[in-house]
Formats: sequence, structure tokens, C-alpha cells
Amino acid sequence: ADQDQPYRTGYHFQPPRNWINDPNGPMVYKGLYHLFYQYNPKGAVWGNIVWAHSTSKDLVNWTPHDPAIYPSQPSDINGCWSGSATILPTGKPVILYTGINPQNKQVQNLAMPKNISDPYLKEWTKSPKNPLMQPTVQNQINASSFRDPTTAWLGPDKYWRVVIGNKLNREGRAILYKSKDFLNWVQAKTPLHSVEGNGMWECPDFFPVSINGQNGVDTSVIGQSVKHVLKVSLDDTKHEYYTIGSYDIAKDVYSPDKGSVESDLGLRYDYGKFYASKTFFDSVKNRRILWGWINESSSQADDIKKGWAGAIPRKIWLGKSGKQLIQWPIVEIEKQRANHVTIPKTKKLLKGGSVIEISGVTAEQADVDISFKISDFEKAEELKPSWTNPQLLCSQKGASVKGGLGPFGLLVLASKDRKENTAVFFRIFKGQNKYVVLMCSDQSRSSLNEDNDKTTYGAFLDVDPRHEKLSLRSLIDHSIVESFGGGGKVCITARVYPTLAINSNAHLYVFNNGSEAVQIEKLNAWSMKKAKLT
Ligand code: FRU
Repeated sequence: ADQDQPYRTGYHFQPPRNWINDPNGPMVYKGLYHLFYQYNPKGAVWGNIVWAHSTSKDLVNWTPHDPAIYPSQPSDINGCWSGSATILPTGKPVILYTGINPQNKQVQNLAMPKNISDPYLKEWTKSPKNPLMQPTVQNQINASSFRDPTTAWLGPDKYWRVVIGNKLNREGRAILYKSKDFLNWVQAKTPLHSVEGNGMWECPDFFPVSINGQNGVDTSVIGQSVKHVLKVSLDDTKHEYYTIGSYDIAKDVYSPDKGSVESDLGLRYDYGKFYASKTFFDSVKNRRILWGWINESSSQADDIKKGWAGAIPRKIWLGKSGKQLIQWPIVEIEKQRANHVTIPKTKKLLKGGSVIEISGVTAEQADVDISFKISDFEKAEELKPSWTNPQLLCSQKGASVKGGLGPFGLLVLASKDRKENTAVFFRIFKGQNKYVVLMCSDQSRSSLNEDNDKTTYGAFLDVDPRHEKLSLRSLIDHSIVESFGGGGKVCITARVYPTLAINSNAHLYVFNNGSEAVQIEKLNAWSMKKAKLT
């Protein structure tokens, strides 16, 4: 059956069949990780949405359970949409989620575990008081733009706070509600934050990050030791943006730091396919974990044919550099590694125009970690002042376009003749008194099947190649290529569907299509074992 399903992931979370979208309510309870997600029990397209549920001891291998939350009350009879879990000070988890009511209005509901001594938390009871928050004439909330409650946080004043995504005309808003008892919620006078002109804010996420070190902190932590992060998912573009800033709990407003914003929207967790993400604080390992939805790039007809759509990767905060968050695959994923290969010393000089095959790993399901050392910058092309859009630059200067210093990097999910390949690479440009590193994921040759979205992605990477090594790690999983540049400063996730480079016909190469040679400082590659996903 594996042979007939060449695109199914081996170690990125997927349900056995059907449609998946947003991750919901991730948490750890009694040492067990829970993942809920938006799911269509009836097909491979969006619809009939329930909260499907799986649990795991290691965030890699998962056991499925029956849907935890499904339409059963007037306040959610037309769908159980996204939401979040909050662990109360008693240790008991509760869930706030968006329900679609009989008038197709978006309202917020509460669900509690039926039996808190069941570590699997299989059954959930809904509050008879639902809905707890709803659009009314008085509050002027648009009933079709009021959804996706965050994890709640508790202030020193003993009030719980939660943010709901919203828009007012074209203004994206994170509406704040407060409650003493988690049941009676009152809307705050002003939103936590809002930005004119960017439309509906789906799936907001608001959390503190420690100002030093890689440990995560609980969502209710405030004070001098933390900065706050606000992330929103923009409905219009299906891209996510975050800013780092400060949270004034007395005024209950968040303001982004000036320096953290590269455009008026902010930075992106991922410059490829990644949406509706959510973090949670892992109190067992003192870290904050990020989950996101990788949507398909295939046609709906192809999704129906393969019988499923969507997948979920795992990433983690490793900490932050003040202006940027760092993401890295969770350490547990390294247990899946097998067949370690490296590169012999004699092959470490990657001359201009050269291609080297990395053999000995299952190239369709692999983990590759490579870093480059650059010593000669003479041939670096000049960066024109108008080249400010990295994605556009990557699509104009794809992997096949020869350059000075770069493109160099990986060709993954490549056919033997390399006609099909996904290229993840760097180009180094001479900017004004510094070198500028561009990181690209070029899908234009990823498949001979023209029905797929093969958009090229790109971002500028904040690394000084004169003093730092240039690293790239790619997790390859059949139809997912999840790449981390500069140790997790830039992430790009791509969804690809090769027709030749499938299963054991997939190959892995290192390439340099620039005129200048670069040095491979180190290369480690592994096959990845299949995780238990169903
Ligand atoms: C984001 C989203 C959410 C909504 C859910 C419905 O992908 O549109 O805003 O709650 O999906 O499935």
C-alpha cells in the first residue's frame, strides 16, 4: 500500500485518511501529549468539521482516538472550529473553541474533560452555559469574523484573559475577553492589538518568551524576564506573521517592538506552506512547541483521489535572538534516524558547476544537515537596491540560473536524471557594506505533473557569511520538504509531488551552480524511520 501512496508522510503527523487542517488544543497532561485537529470524518475536502484527537508519549509516534469534540449543541451544531487548551492552576485542562450555531454565527464554547483521571481524556463535556462569548448588536462583532480563541492566561489580578481573532472592516483585531471563573467572559474596551488594512486575523497566538535562553515559559508569565509574541494567520494571503513586543498588563495592550518588524506585518515563522499554527508550553521539558498545518499544493481532484489532504509538522522554539524567533525540529525526531552517512574529506570542496550524490540513505524519507564555509567573496553578485522581495528574487533566480556565489545547496526528492528535483539553496550577494544571504526553496521542477502549485519560496537569512558558517537542515518526507536555514532563523516548508522521484527512486544531491567554489564544512544525512501515526 505504501507503493500506491508515494506522497503520504512517514514521520509528519497525518490522520489515516481524509481532510486535516488546523492543529487545535495541543497540550501535555499527565505526561502524555495531546493533539486535536480540524478534521472532516467524511472526506478529503474541507467540511463537517470536528476535533479529531491523538495522543503521544514522544510527539513523534501517535495513537488515534475517537473525535473529542463534535457538533452536539445548538452552539456548535454547524461545526466545531479551531480553539485552544488551557491548563488551570488545579492541573485540569479545559478547551475553548469556536462553534458554528444554527444561524451560522461564530460563537465561543467551553468543553471540559468528562473524567480527569483518564490520561487519554477521551471524552469531553460541553458547558451547558455555551456559548460563553457571542456576537451581538451591542458589541458590533461581525458574526462571520469571530473565531479561534487562544490559550487563556491568568493575570496577577486573578482575571483570566483570552484573545479571539476578528476583523472590523479591513482592520485585523485580537479581541480580548476577561473572566474570573472561566465561564462569564466580558469583552475588554480595546483589543489587545489591531492593525488597519490586513483583514481577518485567524488563529491568533499570544505567549511570552524568555529574554535569555532556550527554555519556554508558561503562558501566564509576565514581567522583566520575558518578551511577548503575537502571531496571526492572515485569511487573505494564508500566510502567518509574528511580531515580538511588550505586553502592558495594566492597560491590557500589546505593542510590537520597532526593531522586530521587517514590514508592517512582521516576520514569518515559515516562508513556505505553513498556516493556522499554535504553540503550547511543554511543562515536562520546559520548552514551547509550535505546531502548524501544511496544506497541500495539489489539486482538489488529486486530493480526493489519494483520499487525504494536509499534514502537521512539529517545530520548537530554541529561544530567540531578541529580534527573531528560532525554530528547530524537536530532539525526539532524532530517534527516527538510521543509516548515518557523511561526506569524505576529498569531496568537501564543492567546485562551481558540480553535483555530488549523497547515497546510502532513503532519500524519500530523510534528515540532512549540511553547512558551508565561504572564504572567497569576490564573485558575489551585487544586490540591486530594488531587490527587496526575497520570494520574487528566488523565483527569478531559481536553482538552474547560474550565479557567482551560489546557488549552492541541496537537490532533494530528485530523479536520477535530476529532471525532477526540489532545490533548497543559498545565494550570496554583495549588499551595501555587508553580504546578504538569500535562502530559497525552488519547487519549479519538483514534479512533471503540472496540476500542482509549484511556487518558489524565499527569505533573507540574517547570517554574516564572513564570520559564520551557513547551515541548512532539511527534513524530507515524501511530499514534504521542511528546511531550516542558519540554525532555525529561517524556515521554509514546501509540499511537492514528484512523479519519477518517488519511493526508492528518489535521490539526494549537493549542488553548486555558481562560478565560485564553496567548502562543505560538514554533512550528516540519515534515513528516517517511519513513525507510528495511525
Ligand atoms: C483556519 C480556519 C480557522 C477556523 C478553521 C475552520 O484555517 O479557517 O479560522 O476556525 O480553519 O476549520
